[in-house]
Amino acid sequence: MQIREVDVQDDDQFHQFFRIMTDAETFERPEAAFWSERECAVMFRHEEPGEKWQSYAAFDDADDTTMVGIGCVVMTLHDNTDKAFLGVDVAPTMRRRGIGSAVLSFIEGVARESGRTVLLTESHLPFEARDSHPYRQFAEKRGYSLANVEVRRRLRLPIPEKQLQAWADEAAPHHTDYRIQTFVDDLPDELLESYCYLSNQLALDAPTGDIVFEAESMTPETFRIRVQKVKEQGRTMYETLALDRDGQAVAQSTLSVPQDDPSTVFQWGTLVRKDHRGHRLGLTTKVANLRAVQAAHPERERILTTNSEDNANMVDINVKLGFEPIELLVEWQRKPMPGAR
Ligand SMILES: CC(C)(COP(=O)(O)OP(=O)(O)OC[C@H]1O[C@@H](n2cnc3c(N)ncnc32)[C@H](O)[C@@H]1OP(=O)(O)O)[C@@H](O)C(=O)NCCC(=O)NCCS
Repeated sequence: MQIREVDVQDDDQFHQFFRIMTDAETFERPEAAFWSERECAVMFRHEEPGEKWQSYAAFDDADDTTMVGIGCVVMTLHDNTDKAFLGVDVAPTMRRRGIGSAVLSFIEGVARESGRTVLLTESHLPFEARDSHPYRQFAEKRGYSLANVEVRRRLRLPIPEKQLQAWADEAAPHHTDYRIQTFVDDLPDELLESYCYLSNQLALDAPTGDIVFEAESMTPETFRIRVQKVKEQGRTMYETLALDRDGQAVAQSTLSVPQDDPSTVFQWGTLVRKDHRGHRLGLTTKVANLRAVQAAHPERERILTTNSEDNANMVDINVKLGFEPIELLVEWQRKPMPGAR
């Protein structure tokens, strides 16, 4: 087997790469929602400043043009520079022939050459196979340990307007000093600095098990580039913010509405700045955002979200809104051996 870098700008190579990723990542997952080819192409082809993406594929010796497995290495350049985020996928029909191991070893080498010492990767597992699933056996055999367990949840839409109003009314007396505002696709310049500060805290404030993250380093400039990229993917972003008396963003919640998956909405981050907690701003921003999305996209059938199983505050809000658990998303971590350089 040969492993080589994939030219993601080449349509034929990218198509094969995407097919293997989709087949592997959606296998035996009835509720999976995966990138469309267009969304995935934008993600791999338009790198954000501050990130480096490298893509590889394993080819069968007998047929040098057919990919049998793929891998990617994502590295952040301005924060968390000890880490590499690795992805390895083998099509279900090609498993158990050593392809996954060979690709993983190869991309671990790429990460180490860039000085990365903490290797992270993830898999989706059904609840009942948490301790025994083949992906777990694979990860543990390769020296990774379970570092964080997230639960993926689904909320069926629509939520009756009366119910949304009841949640908003219940929370309203607790946040009289804040203005709640919803924005579509972009944010006004004057909010960008406080928004970026807030959003950068998510990696620090949300529980991530045994994985130790630094704050992220998004700036107004990189935020705008990210917004552009999401638009090119055909996704509409709804951002509801809570603004304090000085007009600064102190809480946020994001929903992403993909054109290419007409039934689904993705819940991305929700965060209340530490010094503004206790005013029901988490519930409030989520409910206002949900209301805006439901009004604009009444055809949507579900919202998907993921939270660490230790994130009691967020999980309590999600359970109140009616989110139901569907599967686990497990993060695996391989740390350097003591004494290793
Ligand atoms: C995990 C994955 C990459 C493995 O690919 P693969 O090519 O089948 O892996 P390998 O053949 O190299 O397996 C290596 C070892 O992992 C373990 N393993 C892999 N699949 C297994 C299975 N179905 N049952 C039990 N053990 C398994 C075995 O110890 C195996 O060694 P062995 O065959 O000598 O016993 C593939 O199943 C996949 O694409 N999964 C979806 C994405 C994912 O979860 N990626 C991995 C993140 S850690």
